Amino acid sequence: MARRPLIAGNWKMNGLLADSLAGTLANLMKSQQAWSFEMVVCPPFTLLHYLGTIIAGSGLALGAQDCHTRGNGAHTGDISPIMLKDVGCSYVILGHSERRTDHGEDDALVRAKATAALEAGLKVILCIGETEAERDSGKTLLVNQTQLRGSIPAGVHATNLVIAYEPVWAIGTGRTPTNPEIQDIHAFIRKELITLIGAEAERVRILYGGSMKPGNAGEILALTDVDGGLIGGASLKAEDFWAIAQQSA
Ligand code: PGA
Repeated sequence: MARRPLIAGNWKMNGLLADSLAGTLANLMKSQQAWSFEMVVCPPFTLLHYLGTIIAGSGLALGAQDCHTRGNGAHTGDISPIMLKDVGCSYVILGHSERRTDHGEDDALVRAKATAALEAGLKVILCIGETEAERDSGKTLLVNQTQLRGSIPAGVHATNLVIAYEPVWAIGTGRTPTNPEIQDIHAFIRKELITLIGAEAERVRILYGGSMKPGNAGEILALTDVDGGLIGGASLKAEDFWAIAQQSA
């Protein structure tokens, strides 16, 4: 089944108004007539509106890294999915391991956020992945199954849901599972998705994330059930991020 690769840049808590990264990427996008892949950048909230104006018309999509479960109200410091939509986002990353760890987000909260995001018309990039201790104790599949079942909202389909498999121990460490391991876990996730949403799961994109870089992207992106990447560190350099995207075809 042909699934259009999604190359997503998770900037995390990086980026200032003066940086040229988004502008460079927008120009690279414009230099190409057509793209076999879809590309999205997910900068911090502070840059969303400005970058939206920079990348307008380039084909590059805008995403956020989190949202609240509510559309508005008395929630000091929070950002609602309606606000993200208003500022031009089409995607939101939810359930990233850094949110789960730094902010104690559990599957139920991730599911509530995802439900609100879908209601606001955003597409959800739902992150799951095991820690190193869980991997070492043979719980990789169980952990990913539990997170997937617990955090997936109702009403999802291939055009509003993307799954990102990110082994926590591979994030920012330079380490990755072997390619056969990545394929096996992605195939397992797709099988689980089929039990949850039926044949539609064949069209849902499952991204790999965790130390993806130009040197390993080609072989990872070529795996049968890998449909793109969620890229942190390497998405902060335009040439690296672009080089990864070019290997997704
Ligand atoms: P990394 O991060 O590419 O820097 O490992 C990936 C992520 O956390 O989404």
